[in-house]
Amino acid sequence: MSHRPDGIAPHGGKLINRIATPEQRQVFLEKAEFIPRVQLDERTTSDLVMIAIGGFSPLIGFMERADYEPVVAGMRLANGLPWSIPITLSVAEEVAEPLKEGSLVRLDDRNGRFIGVLELTEKYPYDKAREAVNVYRTEEAKHPGVQVLYNQGPINIAGPIWLLQRDPHPQFPPYQIDPAESRALFKQRGWKTIVGFQTRNPIHRAHEYIQKCALEIVDGLFLHPLVGATKEDDIPADVRMRCYEIMLEHYYPKDRVILAINPAAMRYAGPREAIFHALVRRNYGCTHFIVGRDHAGVGDYYGTYDAQYIFDEFEPSELGIVPMKFEHAFYCTRTQQMATSKTSPSTPAERIHLSGTKVRQMLCRGEVPPPEFSRPEVAQELVRTMQERNELCSNVPSVTV
Ligand code: ADX
Repeated sequence: MSHRPDGIAPHGGKLINRIATPEQRQVFLEKAEFIPRVQLDERTTSDLVMIAIGGFSPLIGFMERADYEPVVAGMRLANGLPWSIPITLSVAEEVAEPLKEGSLVRLDDRNGRFIGVLELTEKYPYDKAREAVNVYRTEEAKHPGVQVLYNQGPINIAGPIWLLQRDPHPQFPPYQIDPAESRALFKQRGWKTIVGFQTRNPIHRAHEYIQKCALEIVDGLFLHPLVGATKEDDIPADVRMRCYEIMLEHYYPKDRVILAINPAAMRYAGPREAIFHALVRRNYGCTHFIVGRDHAGVGDYYGTYDAQYIFDEFEPSELGIVPMKFEHAFYCTRTQQMATSKTSPSTPAERIHLSGTKVRQMLCRGEVPPPEFSRPEVAQELVRTMQERNELCSNVPSVTV
């Protein structure tokens, strides 16, 4: 692992910054009227932002075919660096057709606001089924990541990007900490080893347990909940962030933890996404990364520990961040503490763990999950929100799966 005075090296060696300077922005604004425009969706908007702030270093834009193909086939960029998820901008044929390689494309968000520029270098068709099988390990359209892939356009438009300006996050401005800032914060706190934690779910006691086990080993914990696009039935980011605030208030040593948002979209690509999540956290300055049970998984598409095994396909030095792998954690009624099968002699009947579906059903019935599963303050907050926002309960299956 290469440490430098300013912390661990970003992936590829240099932290990318593709935020336009005021002068560049002025030039783009003057040209805006005269260049073709492409509208981004929530996911591609967050990809644009992640590239611009260096979260996706070494990427400087949406992938050209030379990177896309080896990423899909074998988790490597054209230059050989590990990279496991295609970062592409896909459009309909009629959108791609008039765009000229070598020219600028204006990128608008979903509200038609001009937010970025693409220096178009290439347009190319791609094979969706191949991407699905290689990246998501399934061709099933009901997989939420594959569904997005099948719904997007058939032509990738590629090239370096610029973000016009970095706006404060509309919902979580105090927690918007970009990679250059998290690196500076870690340095300021004197942390040499930092563990990153990815999550898209409300915090429960198994999360807390693995975070704190990791924190026994390293200097600091970087809590980095994903707040970009998630599937419809995931708990919304504002609710999850409130749960984190509550946890930090009552159950964590404040000087050992930093809470920040990860603006990226969720892919649900399980093992491949675990590699991607780790590389992104390296760019934020983390030296370690937590990978627990079925990381970034959905349904039963992936084996419980597949997202851990995939790290063995790389040399540790080329990923440059250490995965901290945790077994399935639960509350053990025999030893009366959180544990895993590595530390507890319990039988399955002595283990309290609830599936996400079960918890959502309880919340929607107004039932508070038990304290062995969730801290009471968090459980109360979840019940309150689910009751307030009826729509969150509309697609919760009534039968436990
Ligand atoms: S994820 O899609 O972001 O991975 P989630 O928020 O549930 O979903 O998980 C965050 C992290 O905690 C992941 O590394 C996941 O593997 C881990 N994790 C979640 N629940 C458990 C558990 N009961 N035991 C061990 N690890 C867990």
